[in-house]
Amino acid sequence: LPLPEVRSALLGWFDRVGRALPWRLGPEGGRDPYRVWVAEILLQQTQVARGRLYYERFLEAFPTVQALAGAPQEAVLKAWEGCGYYARARYLHRAAGLVAASGFPRDYAGWLALPGVGPYTAAAISSLAFGERRAVSDGNVRRVFARLRGERHPSEGWVQAQADALLDPARPGAWNEAVMDLGATVCTPRAPKCPECPLSAWCVAARSGQPTAFPAPKVR
Ligand code: ADE
Ligand code: SF4
Repeated sequence: LPLPEVRSALLGWFDRVGRALPWRLGPEGGRDPYRVWVAEILLQQTQVARGRLYYERFLEAFPTVQALAGAPQEAVLKAWEGCGYYARARYLHRAAGLVAASGFPRDYAGWLALPGVGPYTAAAISSLAFGERRAVSDGNVRRVFARLRGERHPSEGWVQAQADALLDPARPGAWNEAVMDLGATVCTPRAPKCPECPLSAWCVAARSGQPTAFPAPKVR
């Protein structure tokens, strides 16, 4: 793949039509880590459309990590109401105590060490709030890259390797959000809009005429 062209096509698209979501205030690489962190925890198991409402409510209740750390657990669980998976709120509250005492982690490994933060979340936060070169990888990323490269049986390792190789080193946070937005709005599971896609010129699945055949449905 011609990486410079592919990267500027997707980032150009993202700069034009990327979603304006409440946790995306500020330049990628220099956003408030608390805001980014809360969003990424919430989005682990909550859809963006629902998540954004809960997000605003939660941030009004706890606008800073100090406010969150100092609140009683019942108040945190109350503000989490409707989001489900309350373990996330408990981890977030516990981690807020650690962060209020020692400061925000500044890199991927530091974030990964916090309760409730796994590899996806650590990659998202370190790229979006700190500009670290870390590629996110989940089901949406898997679908987009399997189609782009024409891989019907992408292993987890293959997906991460693709994500790492394609990541724009100049704008890692924007790149990650661009891939998320492409997977959510254009390269959707059942009806990808290939004619509108900034990657269509290089996409093996689109060229095949059967983009939804990639990746192959999981058999078990
Ligand atoms: N899902 C997980 N993180 C996200 C983000 N930062 N923007 C949109 N969807 C997401
Ligand atoms: Fe997905 Fe179609 Fe874009 Fe390929 S061209 S990445 S299949 S939306």
